[in-house]
Amino acid sequence: MRHLLSAADLDRAQAVEVLDAAARMAATQSREIKKLPTLRGRTVVNLFFEDSTRTRISFETAAKRLSADVINFSAKGSSLSKGESLKDTAQTLQAMGADAVVVRHPASGAPHRLAHAGWVGTSVVNAGDGTHQHPTQALLDAFTIRRHLKADTAHPEAIGNDLDGVTVVIVGDVLHSRVARSNVQLLHTLGARVVIVAPPTLVPVGAHTWPCEIAYDLDQALVDHQPDAVMMLRVQRERMGSGGASAGPGFFPSPLEYTRSYGLDARRLRMLSERAIVLHPGPMNRGLEISAEAADSPRAVILEQVANGVAVRMAVLYLLLAKERETLA
Ligand code: CP
Repeated sequence: MRHLLSAADLDRAQAVEVLDAAARMAATQSREIKKLPTLRGRTVVNLFFEDSTRTRISFETAAKRLSADVINFSAKGSSLSKGESLKDTAQTLQAMGADAVVVRHPASGAPHRLAHAGWVGTSVVNAGDGTHQHPTQALLDAFTIRRHLKADTAHPEAIGNDLDGVTVVIVGDVLHSRVARSNVQLLHTLGARVVIVAPPTLVPVGAHTWPCEIAYDLDQALVDHQPDAVMMLRVQRERMGSGGASAGPGFFPSPLEYTRSYGLDARRLRMLSERAIVLHPGPMNRGLEISAEAADSPRAVILEQVANGVAVRMAVLYLLLAKERETLA
C-alpha cells in the first residue's frame, strides 16, 4: 500500500489486513509502555486545511506511539492567508523531511491530487476531503463493529475476519457525508449489508448506484432490517447554504421535523435488537440527530470509536511506512 486515499483502494484482504494490524496495535496500547520503536526516524506531517479534533489528534497520537516525529500544520496561522497553494504548502513540508502526509481538505479530490500529480513523493493518507472520502474513519468504524459483533464469545481473541452477515443502517445527512461514502464502500467490501436512511433531500444523486439499499422511513427501516449496528451521521450545517442543503430545496425537513423523523432517541433505541450497537463519527449534534439518552446509552460505542481510531491509524502508518522493515514487538 503506497497511499490510502479512498475506502475503494482496499479489497477485502487488504481491509482485513489493516483491521488485523489494528487489533495488534490495540493490544500494545493496553501495556504500561505504549510506545513502539517502529517508525523511529520517520516524519509524519499532519496537513489540516479543515478543523478536526478526533482525526488530527489521533493521527498525531498514532505517529508518536510509533516513535515517529510529527509536524502539525493547520491552515489557521499559516501562509495560506498570503495565498500559498496546497502544492507549495505540501512541497514546503516535504522539504522538511516528511515521509508521509496526512491531509484533510475541504475540496473533494485534494489528497488524490497531492498523491498522483507528482506534487509530493511521500505516502499520502486522506484524513477527509470535502464530501468525498474519509477512509480511516470507515476503517475504525469497521474495526469497532467487528470487535463487538464478530468476536467469538467462547474465544474472545478469535475475531471473525470480516463483516459477513452483519447489517448496518447508516442514518442522516448522507449528502454531505464522506463518512457515509467511505463506510458504504468498506462495509460492503467486508461483506456487510448496508442500508442508508435519509430524507430524500439528503440523499446524493447517484446513491442508487452504491452497494447499499436506500430507505426514507427510519422507523420502518429499523423494523424491516433489524440492524446489528446503527450509524448516526452528523447533520453538516456548515456545508449547507443559508437556505439549506446544497443539492436540494433547503434544509428540508426542518430541524424539529428532522429530529422527529430521523433522530435516534430512547423510543428508537428500544426498537433495536439486544446486541445492536450505536455509532456516531463525531462531533455530535446532541438533540438533533441523536438524543443525549441515545448518545450516552450502554449501546453507544462512540468513545470506543475514538479510542480505536488511534489503533487503526497506527496500523495504517505502520503498513504504509514500516511493514517491510519492522515487526511488532
Ligand atoms: N470523525 C471525525 O472526522 O471527527 P473530526 O472532524 O473531529 O476529526
